[in-house]
Amino acid sequence: MRARYPTSRSAIMPALELAQQKYGQVEGLTYQAVSELLDVPEIWVFEVASFYSLFDRSQTGRHHLRLCTNLSCMLRGSDALMQHLQNRLAIKSGETTSDGAFTLTDVECLGACEMAPVLMVDARYHGDLTTDKLDVLLASLAGQPTKEAT
Ligand code: FES
Repeated sequence: MRARYPTSRSAIMPALELAQQKYGQVEGLTYQAVSELLDVPEIWVFEVASFYSLFDRSQTGRHHLRLCTNLSCMLRGSDALMQHLQNRLAIKSGETTSDGAFTLTDVECLGACEMAPVLMVDARYHGDLTTDKLDVLLASLAGQPTKEAT
């Protein structure tokens, strides 16, 4: 894997993505393993893992819902969508439903402002959301047993 990237540092993010696909999250042992694999300081690995909200640094539900609440999405109604999700799932941002199905997180810009408001479900983006679209999406996700591959 390392040979595909110009520097070891540039391989940190794909290595973390692979680890998250395999283990469902990244944490201390992951940082150490990636550090040793790529021969980079462990702090570099932690810096990448903690900067990007696409990395789960703790256990999450089977589906991780990341709702962007940054400017473009806020102007197009993300606050109301967050309230709707919290009401529907009976959790607050940062929490997981009691059945382990969903974790809800508010995140900074997902880099898809052109389709604001944006929700990232596991590794997939959903844009131009409304509360009606959210309800359809939640219903479709309820029958899926595992996270989508990232
Ligand atoms: Fe929401 Fe950029 S502000 S995707």
